[in-house]
Amino acid sequence: MVAAHRDSVPVGRRRTLVEMSIVVLTGAGISAESGVPTFRDADGLWEGHRVEDVATPEAYAAQPAVVHRFYDDRRAALAGVEPNPAHRALARLEERLGDDLLVVTQNIDDLHERAGSTRVLHMHGELLSALCRACEGRVRWTGRLGEFPACPSCGISALRPDVVWFGEVPYEMDRIAAALEAADLFVSIGTSGAVYPAAGFVQHARAHGAATLELNLQPSEVSRLFDETRHGLAGELVPAWVAELLADG
Ligand code: APR
Repeated sequence: MVAAHRDSVPVGRRRTLVEMSIVVLTGAGISAESGVPTFRDADGLWEGHRVEDVATPEAYAAQPAVVHRFYDDRRAALAGVEPNPAHRALARLEERLGDDLLVVTQNIDDLHERAGSTRVLHMHGELLSALCRACEGRVRWTGRLGEFPACPSCGISALRPDVVWFGEVPYEMDRIAAALEAADLFVSIGTSGAVYPAAGFVQHARAHGAATLELNLQPSEVSRLFDETRHGLAGELVPAWVAELLADG
C-alpha cells in the first residue's frame, strides 16, 4: 500500500500565507487590556499570597477555601470583561487560515473563544470548567466552587478548579508538540517566559525549522531565542501583525 501524502506541498518552509501553518502561544498579557490581571506584573500578589502559593495541589490540600476563593473570584470577574483587539485579530487570522492556525493558550479565561477563535487549546485548563477529584469528570462550571457543590456526574462533593497547578502536567501536550513540529511560524504573545513547558515551545519550534516571533510588552525571559521580537501593547501589536500577514497572503 502506498502511504497517502498529507498534501502535495513539500515539507519545509512554505511561502504564502494560505500555505503556512502557524502556532500562536498566548499568555496573560493578551488579556491584560481586557482587564484580566496578569500574574507577574505589578506586585504579583493576590491578597498577600504569591500566585505560586495559591496555584499548587499542596495549597489546595492545606487551604481549599482560600484557593477556591481565588478562582471563584476570577471566574466571576469574567462576566465583566470583553475580548480586546488582540483576541479579535487572532480570530480574523483563523478565518483565513482555518486548520493551519492553532492557538495554544496558558490563559484560563474564555476571551479567545468569545472573540471567535475555535482552534484553541487551554494547556493550563479553564476557569469555566470543574474537575471532579472522585470520578475525574470535567464539567462546564459558571458558579462558585467554594461552597463545595456535588459533582453532577457522581454526586460526590469533590469538585476542584479545572486548572493545571504547579507540579501538574499541562493538558494536550502531545497535540501541542505535534503542532510545534509542523509549524512554519511560532508566535508568542503576552507571556513572561517564566513557566515551563510553555517557555520551551520557542526552542521546540525552532529545532523543527519554524521561524519565531515574540510580541510582548517587554522582553520576556526567553526573548533572545526568537528570530524577531516586537515590544508594545498586544492590542496594538497583534492587529498590526495580523494585518501584515493578511496583506501578504
Ligand atoms: N500587551 C502585551 N504584553 C503584556 C501586556 C500587554 N498589554 N501586559 C502585560 N504584558 C506582558 C508582561 O510584560 C509579561 O511579560 O505579559 C506577560 C505576562 O506574564 P505573566 O504574568 O507571567 O503571565 P504568563 O506568562 O501567562 O504566566 C504563565 O504562570 O502563574 C502561571 O499558570 C499561570 O498561565 C500562567 C503561567
